Amino acid sequence: MSYDADLSFVFAHTPKVVFGARAADSVGDLVTELGGQRTVIVTDAFLAGQTDLVKRLGKSLGDRLAGVFSGVIPDPTAPSVDEGAAFARERGADLLISLGGGSAIDTGKAMAVVLTEGGKILEHEGYHALTRRLTPHIAVPTTAGTGSEMTLVTVITDPARGQKTFVGSHFLHPDVALLDPTFTTGMPARLTAATGMDAMSHAVEALISTLRQPLSDAAALQAIELIATHLPRALAQPDDLHARGQMLLAACLAGTAFSNAMVSLNHAMAHSLGALHHVHHGTLNAALLPHTMRFFAADVGDRFTRVASALGGATRGLGDEAAARQAADLMQAFVHRVGLTTRLGELGVPAESLPQVAELSLSDGSIIYSPRPVMDPAEIEALLRQAH
Ligand SMILES: NC(=O)c1ccc[n+]([C@@H]2O[C@H](COP(=O)([O-])OP(=O)(O)OC[C@H]3O[C@@H](n4cnc5c(N)ncnc54)[C@H](O)[C@@H]3O)[C@@H](O)[C@H]2O)c1
Ligand SMILES: [Fe+2]
Repeated sequence: MSYDADLSFVFAHTPKVVFGARAADSVGDLVTELGGQRTVIVTDAFLAGQTDLVKRLGKSLGDRLAGVFSGVIPDPTAPSVDEGAAFARERGADLLISLGGGSAIDTGKAMAVVLTEGGKILEHEGYHALTRRLTPHIAVPTTAGTGSEMTLVTVITDPARGQKTFVGSHFLHPDVALLDPTFTTGMPARLTAATGMDAMSHAVEALISTLRQPLSDAAALQAIELIATHLPRALAQPDDLHARGQMLLAACLAGTAFSNAMVSLNHAMAHSLGALHHVHHGTLNAALLPHTMRFFAADVGDRFTRVASALGGATRGLGDEAAARQAADLMQAFVHRVGLTTRLGELGVPAESLPQVAELSLSDGSIIYSPRPVMDPAEIEALLRQAH
């Protein structure tokens, strides 16, 4: 892989990463470091009611736990964020701990914006409008994953527009990403596979983005190799703490990669399909990824050669495009191996909606980082039809 002679880049890596089995049982020490006295945990009803994870955090927090907001919903909406922020304000929160998948972490990030800046979350939409530090935030992922614990963006659905929108700022990086594999062993197989493939999509898209750079590439390649090895192991042996831990690291590395290099067309389509049809984000990324890789096979130089190798391919003697096509085929086989589909039709997406999905994808903030400009909705629609 090579870089242009006029390469210039910024690489930001803000959250402190604390990793280890049972590391979350010492969350109180991290709260002390950050000066928190009144902590609000941000999570969903399932994790609050059906697991002991809140209790484990609470034990370490003692009387510094001021409340638990359990109103996080999948693909969080703006009103759900505003409701969470009102709850936290009423409890006098001076620190937030988000506990859950990307939906809980994104809600925690967005709540920190509203707590610090006031108003409603959609008033802060867009990139780099924030100007100061937010309410401190510790992110504790229970999926592996979105990598949201590492990124500068929160993805919020605006129900009025029926579209996912973003707040992006360096101030949105959580202060701490607390990665504890004992918090992810409860994930069912389907969620394990789908969130693992979300991380895979982040890494692959970061690798081919127009903003790619050496440090994000290193993180992305390491993430791809870890997922290729450890996602099948985590599925075969759900309580294998080593495999779960490696998947948390992979999600974290992929999050770092795409927080710097961004994602592109695959995520633009997944966001649009998610907003319209409420199919899980990682499941959509998995279904689309091999098709997107084929779509860009002629535009990525030798960048998919290492992806093919990580997935067990042998590309010696092949030209770049043939190697990229092999990587796409291997990715398709990998998606099937982890028990997911590469057909949107099987996810309940009606063929009639594809023109609308294509139009929405064009207005998604991620699409501009695609390895070649994608501006024609007919081109996206043709890709979606291939994936249907
Ligand atoms: N901000 C970012 O950088 C970023 C990146 C990628 C995705 N996202 C967003 O993240 C969201 C998707 O997050 P997700 O895929 O982690 O899923 P999720 O957070 O929406 O959770 C999905 C379901 O899994 C359950 N769950 C979570 N952890 C569990 C566990 N350990 N055991 C059993 N059940 C568990 C939750 O209760 C929920 O019902 C989307 O809204 C997407 O847009 C954000
Ligand atoms: Fe994603």
